[in-house]
Amino acid sequence: MKPHTHGGLAGLLRMMRGRYRLLAMAVFSGVLAQSGTLACMAIGAWIVGIALAGEAALLPVACGWLALLVLLTAAARWWQAWVSHDLAFALIEKLQMAIFDGLERSAPGTADGQRLGDLASVATADAELMERFYAHTLADYTGAIVVPLAVLIALWQFDPLLAGVLLPFLLLVATVPVWLARRAALQGQQVKTEQGQLNADTVEFIHGQRELAAFGQARGYVQRLIQRTQSLGRMQQRYGSRSGLEFAAVDALSAGAVLALIAATSTLLHAGSLSPLWLPLVLVLGVGALLPIVDVTQTASQLGELRAGAARIMRIIDYSARVNDSGHAALPDRHNLAFSAVRFGYAAQRPVLRGLSATIGPGEIVALAGRSGAGKSTLTHLLLRFYEVESGAITVGGVDIRSLPLAALHQLISWVPQEVYLFNGSVADNIRLGGPDASPQQIEEVAKMAQAHDFISALPDGYHSACGENGNRFSGGQRQRIAIARALLTGAPVLILDEASASLDNENERAFHQALFSLRHKRTILLIAHRPATLRHADRILLLENGEIAESGSHDALMATGGKYAALIKKVAAD
Ligand SMILES: Nc1ncnc2c1ncn2[C@@H]1O[C@H](COP(=O)(O)OP(=O)(O)OP(=O)(O)O)[C@@H](O)[C@H]1O
Ligand SMILES: [Mg+2]
Repeated sequence: MKPHTHGGLAGLLRMMRGRYRLLAMAVFSGVLAQSGTLACMAIGAWIVGIALAGEAALLPVACGWLALLVLLTAAARWWQAWVSHDLAFALIEKLQMAIFDGLERSAPGTADGQRLGDLASVATADAELMERFYAHTLADYTGAIVVPLAVLIALWQFDPLLAGVLLPFLLLVATVPVWLARRAALQGQQVKTEQGQLNADTVEFIHGQRELAAFGQARGYVQRLIQRTQSLGRMQQRYGSRSGLEFAAVDALSAGAVLALIAATSTLLHAGSLSPLWLPLVLVLGVGALLPIVDVTQTASQLGELRAGAARIMRIIDYSARVNDSGHAALPDRHNLAFSAVRFGYAAQRPVLRGLSATIGPGEIVALAGRSGAGKSTLTHLLLRFYEVESGAITVGGVDIRSLPLAALHQLISWVPQEVYLFNGSVADNIRLGGPDASPQQIEEVAKMAQAHDFISALPDGYHSACGENGNRFSGGQRQRIAIARALLTGAPVLILDEASASLDNENERAFHQALFSLRHKRTILLIAHRPATLRHADRILLLENGEIAESGSHDALMATGGKYAALIKKVAAD
């Protein structure tokens, strides 16, 4: 996995590509609204000045201007809200799609060892947090530069002293978030990490409720969750108190700016170089210049959390693909499998397969046997290209699976995993994963072969019954039979069954074997099994040991030689 090389915020900006028009409108409307607010305040102050100076003739004109500006400012505010949220939601949608894309690309290995609940919170909560960035941050920052500059120029017209007095305060206020930026970034990261972990713990708690209850550990787990929540609370408090410090500093500096302006204007009044008519206007302009900067410091105080969230998002978006899907070989029309000198391990220095070689003829039924942890499931994962072999090659019909497009490979091979996952939909929908266009008759047909039809038809809603989350409404054997039906529906010429009949009772197992072996010569079948009843039916058995095929032959032949396979079967029989 390549390390995350650029800051999260740069990544957020990258997402704006193609939306520059909307972005420009958001920024322009934001600056327009801020300038409008300032202009309204300025005209109000001018009216006060006119009234104080007794120049009644100017009043109607001034009031007319004010009314017009108030309307324009309101329109600009409305426009800004509309455009900026439009922009924000479009970009968040893009962000979320990129996150899902990254997750898919790195699948099916759990993304970089991250926890599911943590990933889920990145895809939802963190992504939504970015609304603030896209809707406000850029427009606010632009306003914070444009508006104070305009004010400085206006004040300069009255007297350079006024601009000179205000400038240092503007600069100081603008740097407040920078003083505490490192702390903000660190605290933001802590808060985000802790939030992700809490989310992951909560998801795990809900998943594992039965285990916790059965082993009497629910209370203890809840206690840990409470502790996590409290520690998150403390972090958020620290984060908040730092923001509080920033607000206090900004308030103090703003008050200082007003005092300095008052001192400067009274000097100018005294010297007679400023008419009292302009006094209210000058003070209001000074305050007005500060407002957009104060706005920005508030946005900036949340920048720590934003950056941490953005970095978490970009890490997923930048996930590299687990396998390279650039092959474009045509589908082979023979369906024999060959493993030649396959080496693979999940971690360095811990090989699982050490140069395994084996062949499976087209239409042959081969059983893979071996101790638990020998690497049987791993071999099927390599065949499906969930992982890439380290060296050696796997071919189907003589074509290296790396030169086939992944989608084509998955058309060629259907798979019943050792641990079945059912989605929270109907039984029919779960089977239809193997063929989205299948008719109800076809679904029933494969369910019959998988010995699933009888129990499915006995359900209150038959094939429309809901499976529950991860199929929790069904027994292990029922789940497995639904998964078998799903795999059969694909009609793929190669079928892999990883302990598919392990949870079936004798009667169902016998019936399933009959159905399976009726596919002899029609499909190439690799089945992983422990039970002699299953193994006996295979054309050939491969015994996997120490990362290699240690023995190969029919059940009877291997039993007769009395080697490792015979010993393994005797042990199973004795258990
Ligand atoms: N995702 C993974 N990450 C790291 N190690 C793994 C992973 N999956 C499996 N292993 C390790 O690889 C080895 C082979 O596992 P595998 O699941 O292939 O065994 P198996 O022969 O299918 O066993 P069983 O009969 O119990 O299903 C085991 O030592 C296991 O600990
Ligand atoms: Mg296994």
